[in-house]
Amino acid sequence: MENKITYFDYAATTPMREEVRQAIQPFLETEFGNPSSIHARGREARRAVDRARRTIAQTLQARPDEIFFTSGGTESINIIHKGLWWRHQHHKNHMIISAIEHSAVIETVNWLKGQGLQVTTVFPNDQGVIEVQSIQKAIRPETFLVSVMVANNELGTIQPFREIGQLTRSQNILFHADAVQAYGKIPLNVQTDGFDFISVSSHKIYGPKGSGFYFHRTSVQLEPLIHGGGQERGYRGGTENVLGIVGMAQAAELIHQTMHQEALRLQALTEFLTQELSRRIPQLQVNGATAPRIPGIVNLSIPSLSAERLIQRLDREGYAISSGAACTAGAFHPSHVLLAMNKSNQEAKESIRISLGAFTTFDEIQNFVNDLPKTVDALAATPLLD
Ligand SMILES: Cc1ncc(COP(=O)(O)O)c(C=O)c1O
Repeated sequence: MENKITYFDYAATTPMREEVRQAIQPFLETEFGNPSSIHARGREARRAVDRARRTIAQTLQARPDEIFFTSGGTESINIIHKGLWWRHQHHKNHMIISAIEHSAVIETVNWLKGQGLQVTTVFPNDQGVIEVQSIQKAIRPETFLVSVMVANNELGTIQPFREIGQLTRSQNILFHADAVQAYGKIPLNVQTDGFDFISVSSHKIYGPKGSGFYFHRTSVQLEPLIHGGGQERGYRGGTENVLGIVGMAQAAELIHQTMHQEALRLQALTEFLTQELSRRIPQLQVNGATAPRIPGIVNLSIPSLSAERLIQRLDREGYAISSGAACTAGAFHPSHVLLAMNKSNQEAKESIRISLGAFTTFDEIQNFVNDLPKTVDALAATPLLD
């Protein structure tokens, strides 16, 4: 029998909802058509894709022709950053990003630097929030894009995206926001929030993996990244991932229907979790504690306790949690987000992220607040053995 796992890593990915599975089912079986085919099988697939586009557009107050399907957040970000650079490189060559972006933005921009892009990286305050004034200071006459995420994936901190949108509008600069962690958790409205582009991923909202979309204000010109059969109005060639698109739209609809009550529920669970843990582990620190945060993400540090050891130990005890620090090829790197908040290398290796979601129960939280202090004590007592 499979060991029971308490899953506290919803910011990494989410399980698919039953309703999503059901929505996808016909596309795994009978409705296998290619949306570009003109016969009946093709037409039903086309109708499903069109319906999904309308559903998703509604969640953002967008028009359906402003929604473009991709394979996820990373691809959306690549399409937008590279596509805008190719459009602007001959007259404007400067972009502003934040130091707490996901690697999908940071690495795309690093690659573009090799093509001649100039980048200013703006740092957050000690709560993990990018202040609008710091973006304002970084603007140059040759700035064409500001790219700042809506909510940070490690801390959950919400960035002042509406103010950033107002600023970029007033300066005639484009605004892309990575909304992968925020979409479906807080309301986003492309008519009032000043976005020109936002990127979204299906697997963070209880949809299938390998599916995503971006919003593109179509008055803005973008050079396509993926050429092919003209799908997605020429911006992203390739036969559509029909079941991924249908599943994502179903997930998007459901998460928006329950957004407000789910926010309250997760808020209450998060508060209980942090209050109880702070009481039982006095040295514990909550990172980004006073910043506005999306419900369900808590980032904690326990001084002198390596996050890597703690996560591995909790894994053996049946808890799936993660850290902000990227684990590449067996090496555990300090979190670039905590380093950007002026934490030391050591502190940046001590942060763990607990992220809750739709299937998290109060009992799971209660068990965790009982178990974590014991695990912390056990690790402190055996500094070299784990
Ligand atoms: C903030 C943020 N941006 C982008 C991504 C990448 O999305 P995807 O996994 O769909 O490529 C993630 C996923 O972890 C994320 O958290």
